[in-house]
Amino acid sequence: MRNELLLLSALLIAATALTSGDYGQSATASHVHSTTVHSNITGTTASPNTTTHSPNTTTHSPNTTTHSPNTTTHSPNTTTHSPNTTTHSPKTTTAPPAPTPSAKLTVGNYNLSDSGKLCFLAKVAMQIRVNSSKVNGTFIVQEHKTNVSGSCGEKVTDIFLSFNEGQIALKFRNNETSKMVYVETLEYDLTYAFKYGVSSNFSGKNESLWLFAAAEGHSYSCKAQPVYMGGGVHLDLSSLRIQAYNIKNNDFGTPDLCKADQPNYRVPIAVGIILIILIVIVVIAYLVSRKRRADGYQSL
Ligand SMILES: *[C@@H]1O[C@H](CO)[C@@H](O)[C@H](O)[C@H]1NC(C)=O
Ligand SMILES: *[C@@H]1O[C@H](CO)[C@@H](O)[C@H](O)[C@H]1NC(C)=O
Ligand SMILES: *[C@@H]1O[C@H](CO)[C@@H](O)[C@H](O)[C@H]1NC(C)=O
Ligand SMILES: *[C@@H]1O[C@H](CO)[C@@H](O)[C@H](O)[C@H]1NC(C)=O
Ligand SMILES: *[C@@H]1O[C@H](CO)[C@@H](O)[C@H](O)[C@H]1NC(C)=O
Ligand SMILES: *[C@@H]1O[C@H](CO)[C@@H](O)[C@H](O)[C@H]1NC(C)=O
Ligand SMILES: *[C@@H]1O[C@H](CO)[C@@H](O)[C@H](O)[C@H]1NC(C)=O
Ligand SMILES: *[C@@H]1O[C@H](CO)[C@@H](O)[C@H](O)[C@H]1NC(C)=O
Ligand SMILES: *[C@@H]1O[C@H](CO)[C@@H](O)[C@H](O)[C@H]1NC(C)=O
Repeated sequence: MRNELLLLSALLIAATALTSGDYGQSATASHVHSTTVHSNITGTTASPNTTTHSPNTTTHSPNTTTHSPNTTTHSPNTTTHSPNTTTHSPKTTTAPPAPTPSAKLTVGNYNLSDSGKLCFLAKVAMQIRVNSSKVNGTFIVQEHKTNVSGSCGEKVTDIFLSFNEGQIALKFRNNETSKMVYVETLEYDLTYAFKYGVSSNFSGKNESLWLFAAAEGHSYSCKAQPVYMGGGVHLDLSSLRIQAYNIKNNDFGTPDLCKADQPNYRVPIAVGIILIILIVIVVIAYLVSRKRRADGYQSL
């Protein structure tokens, strides 16, 4: 009787194991799902059709927009300057700052050669995202409007990505002791009118960082990486591949994946271990019960 009970409980445990396997699967599924959602939120890798917040998506030249007169009369009110400047003087020579027509977030190629040697290579879709009490908006960095400059030193490489509205600067550190290359300083500066007529300046500098770290001769790779720069401003990098130092054949080295892109085997491994343990328990229980039964027959 006790033997049957033992077997029954063993089977019950095995059944639990299978159920927990199901849980593990659904947990993995939901994990995958949440990753997808995340990359959708950043809107970077998945859809090339990311639009900025400016409502006029269709009009290419801002001067032909029919909406602009409305905005012009409205904006002086919000700013505390004299409200009727725009309406009173019709011959305004300098146009008020306006958001540029929305651009699509696209992957750009950026590289720098120093002394005839390619020493910086990057492939990235980049945007500056502002979310503050004053402004909500996105500025997209466009490859064809961006100039790459800088200098490549033995220990430090300075990269400046400059555009009309500002620039993004990266300082790479080549640590020969740890054989790691990473971005130590990240800085940005942006002067842009997210709202018609209101141009604002944003800037930030972060030092003592350990960003985009890759082993010597390797590249750093990440599908989506937002970097918080303070003041409600994010530097969103997606489809990122970046490398400074030891660039061979004008191409990226082995990619070192960011944490978010590394495969997560934790749940499947845990489920596997639990299953193995339970199978062992069942086998042991079976053997013990068989031995006892054999003993019982002998005693008869
Ligand atoms: C991008 O937008 C265009 C026009 O709105 C559409 O035809 C196209 O399918 C979109 N592509 C994606 C990937 O959403
Ligand atoms: C509007 O801009 C286009 C090109 O951007 C230019 O050819 C055209 O002359 C401009 N029109 C006015 C009224 O300024
Ligand atoms: C702009 O003004 C015109 C009339 O002057 C009005 O019909 C239109 O709805 C206004 N547009 C906005 C966005 O306020
Ligand atoms: C903007 O100014 C005009 C007159 O210049 C006034 O009639 C209107 O009420 C003001 N709007 C706001 C929101 O202050
Ligand atoms: C903007 O920031 C606030 C908190 O400061 C947050 O609740 C909100 O979700 C953010 N909006 C976006 C679009 O990221
Ligand atoms: C920007 O969005 C946040 C929440 O997403 C809101 O609290 C804030 O007031 C918004 N700012 C502007 C200027 O719309
Ligand atoms: C380089 O790495 C070594 C070992 O990790 C560390 O002790 C050293 O401070 C690093 N040097 C710099 C300049 O960061
Ligand atoms: C950059 O600096 C800001 C302000 O000090 C801070 O909030 C943010 O977390 C920093 N970002 C990184 C990547 O360290
Ligand atoms: C570097 O950039 C230039 C201009 O963007 C491009 O023509 C060239 O092919 C790039 N070189 C490499 C090795 O990617």
